[in-house]
Amino acid sequence: QIEGDLALDQTYISEAEIQARLRELAGEISEDYDGKDLLLVGVLKGAVMVMADLARALERDVEMDWMAVSSYGSGTTSSGVVRILKDLDADLTDRHVLIVEDIIDSGLTLSWLTSNLRSRKPASVEICTLLRKPEALKMAVDVRYVGFDIPNAFVVGYGLDYDERYRNLRDIATLAPHVYS
Ligand code: PRP
Ligand code: MN
Ligand code: MG
Repeated sequence: QIEGDLALDQTYISEAEIQARLRELAGEISEDYDGKDLLLVGVLKGAVMVMADLARALERDVEMDWMAVSSYGSGTTSSGVVRILKDLDADLTDRHVLIVEDIIDSGLTLSWLTSNLRSRKPASVEICTLLRKPEALKMAVDVRYVGFDIPNAFVVGYGLDYDERYRNLRDIATLAPHVYS
């Protein structure tokens, strides 16, 4: 799929590897939430693919809701202030909430989001992310389910974008350095 696109370097995690890992995570999640109602909260837009595939791999009834957030300042390191562009429709009171993300990079988005959601009196808040970068390990974000720990490469595909492109790639690929340098 990436053949012929000069912006892409190579496949980093294949579609098959992604799906296999999601099935493993779905198994853990199904066990952990057995007998409990579960609300998946997807973070737009990157988490769309993970949410769709994880939810279906769960093979149980879940509710799905969405939030859109944006960090102030579009620099690579932001102020830590996050703004809600679209809030949840669901009331979180006494709900078991699992936040679904594509990637944790600096950890800013999720550290802000978890404390925001925890203030809404849910029964529990946990995080599931497909990818996690090393920088995120420095943040005090407790991530329950991680698909892959990856090094600091620029990756796109499977929801992850570069300037809004490549989200619909089935695989996760590295971006060729000439594109962003
Ligand atoms: C990306 C990604 C995570 C966030 C991680 O979203 O999808 O939500 O950045 O970065 P952080 O750990 O440094 O906060 P982005 O803001 O690019 O929006 P998008 O999901 O619409 O692409
Ligand atoms: Mn995102
Ligand atoms: Mg993005």
